[in-house]
Amino acid sequence: MSATVITNIATLVTNDPSLRDTDPLGLVRDAAVVIEGDRVVWTGESSKAPATDNRVDAGGRAVLPGFVDSHSHLVFAGDRTEEFNARMSGRPYSAGGIRTTVAATRAADDAELEANLTRYLAEALRQGTTTSETKSGYGLTVEDEARALRLAARHTDEVTYLGAHIVAPEFADDPAGYVALVTGDMLNACAPHARWIDVFCEKGAFDGDQARAILTAGKAKGLHPRIHANQLSYGPGVQLAVELDAASADHCTHLTDADVDALANSSTVATLLPGAEFSTRAAWPDARRLLDAGATVALSTDCNPGSSFTSSVPFCVALAVRDMGMTPDEAVWAATAGGAAALRRTDVGRLVPGAYADLVLLDAPSHVHLAYRPGVPLVTGVWRRGVREV
Ligand code: NIG
Ligand code: FE
Repeated sequence: MSATVITNIATLVTNDPSLRDTDPLGLVRDAAVVIEGDRVVWTGESSKAPATDNRVDAGGRAVLPGFVDSHSHLVFAGDRTEEFNARMSGRPYSAGGIRTTVAATRAADDAELEANLTRYLAEALRQGTTTSETKSGYGLTVEDEARALRLAARHTDEVTYLGAHIVAPEFADDPAGYVALVTGDMLNACAPHARWIDVFCEKGAFDGDQARAILTAGKAKGLHPRIHANQLSYGPGVQLAVELDAASADHCTHLTDADVDALANSSTVATLLPGAEFSTRAAWPDARRLLDAGATVALSTDCNPGSSFTSSVPFCVALAVRDMGMTPDEAVWAATAGGAAALRRTDVGRLVPGAYADLVLLDAPSHVHLAYRPGVPLVTGVWRRGVREV
């Protein structure tokens, strides 16, 4: 198999886990990366790089692992421009807007849904995302949820069943009946297409007892839990995530000290989604508090047409640094290795021998520029599974 060396890298972010305590980004200056097939086979100083058939000159720029966006909702139709406009005129965000997208998604045919999905995945890839998790949650019938997951599974391994996004409109007077469907026929139809199960644990969506029942049923079917927790208000979501050993508690905007402690003493990642606070004009999650307590933090987009219509991880990194108390190093780690931890993956989010050759080349000398130069399209090269895509 022929190998390629990317050389003349001014700053290489490896996220080498063996250096986590002293140098979390595992930085190498004047570095090179060697790729063989879909894997990284060597990283180190340029001068020590082994000879290879092909050579790519990084031109004194920065290379980092492809972003791992561990939270998005990309199977949908329509948009919610009017709702956004109204919000920017002062109306508050409400989970009720999800119903607008449910109606549009149900009305769309498979080709339209898949075209939307591939469009947003391609948009994300151009901005450096090489691993994308995505969810159902805009179908809310057995057929529409299974269809969303079947389409998603054609494009990513990280597929999440979110039948419990809100109570389906048909069950407005019978939420218990909807929970029975989500944990029964809908779960049976969806489980074969998904790796994860998620629930929106929030006032106006599902309470703690309902969320526990839904996630426990999913676990019994072989799905692993993750939770939309504590987004709009304080609540039981984070504690439930830890209790069930969820891979991630997502949003974490309203946390008590006990919630922070629980996360810090667990293997549940706190995934922060600043695009949602940006687009709903809500208070930012406190990344500093979580990091200082010892929790593992990930950053993701939450790309969806209602609360966060951005596919840009660099944008989220910039917000997290500016407004959530993260250093640029912490934010870059959270958007790469943190996202991988939130998906319980060790083959992405790091550039070490054996990991997938998922790399981003920035038109900048270091990863810090992702926050230092907000809004600038710095991603100038993307390799996914060893293939240059951008
Ligand atoms: O993660 N919180 C629930 N779900 C989405 C919002 C979905 C929507 O508004 O359409 C979120 O923010
Ligand atoms: Fe979400």
